[in-house]
Amino acid sequence: MGKTVTICFTNNKGGSGKSTTCSNLGAAMARAGKKVLLVDGDMQLNLSLAFFPEDWVLEHAQGEKNLYHAIGKQEDLTDYIVHTPYENLDLVPSSTLMSSIEYELFTKWQREFILRKCLQKIKDSEVYDYILIDAPPTLGGWVMNILCASDKVIIPVEASPWGMFGLANMFEFLNEVKQISPDLEVAGIAVTKVDTRKNYFKQTMETLHQLESIYVFEHVIRVDSSVEWSQDNSVPVVEYKKSSRSAKEYTELAEEVMNRVSR
Ligand SMILES: Nc1ncnc2c1ncn2[C@@H]1O[C@H](COP(=O)(O)OP(=O)(O)OP(=O)(O)O)[C@@H](O)[C@H]1O
Ligand SMILES: [Mg+2]
Repeated sequence: MGKTVTICFTNNKGGSGKSTTCSNLGAAMARAGKKVLLVDGDMQLNLSLAFFPEDWVLEHAQGEKNLYHAIGKQEDLTDYIVHTPYENLDLVPSSTLMSSIEYELFTKWQREFILRKCLQKIKDSEVYDYILIDAPPTLGGWVMNILCASDKVIIPVEASPWGMFGLANMFEFLNEVKQISPDLEVAGIAVTKVDTRKNYFKQTMETLHQLESIYVFEHVIRVDSSVEWSQDNSVPVVEYKKSSRSAKEYTELAEEVMNRVSR
């Protein structure tokens, strides 16, 4: 696998906590002294917005130095990296033009492996300990690219009645991806937006633990308004309010993830 571990965050269910988890795990890993590259793979630009104000994000989304153009030109992503305001934490920003990426990939040779190729030099250089990729809530050719560029996948699942709906499609899709990228492993399910006062949480955990051979991370993330305030200020919660419940939970989850993926 090499030194650099690439982890993507996917779930075709929208709003399951992918971008929040990707941004905060990245920030927590960086705080723990790891060198982290975040790749914003979604036209919603949420991963970029987690670190930079809206003006900055829109300016980069409209410019040439974003993931959309790198994929179009099939270029090494090194030239597209920006430093975030935090030590050890870099980002490749996204573009709203990513909305047409499915269509554009269609005619490309070996179209499932374009992102992997664009990341190869960075991986080989072993500059980063972790590359974290935020995926959109879809299951098409672009998410296949993201999965084929990854060593591990984390599936954030919202602890709600509809949170697990569609999970079977996700696993079917992962099995298809494994046929062309056999080393890809599911690191586990990260349970997010938990309200421990509700019995529904217990039912979610019971159902998830019944899934055969799928690890469920022990550290769950509870609902916390600090997450929303931090996002409103374009600062990850682990930096915005270090004493908050969610900052502590994301720091603990980051430790668990690092232990699990390095095995
Ligand atoms: N622990 C939490 N406490 C409170 N709100 C949260 C928490 N985690 C996420 N949210 C909120 O839930 C919403 C969805 O989260 P997020 O954007 O991370 O999900 P997503 O899976 O990336 O969504 P999409 O599928 O649209 O990309 C956001 O508005 C976010 O602020
Ligand atoms: Mg998202």
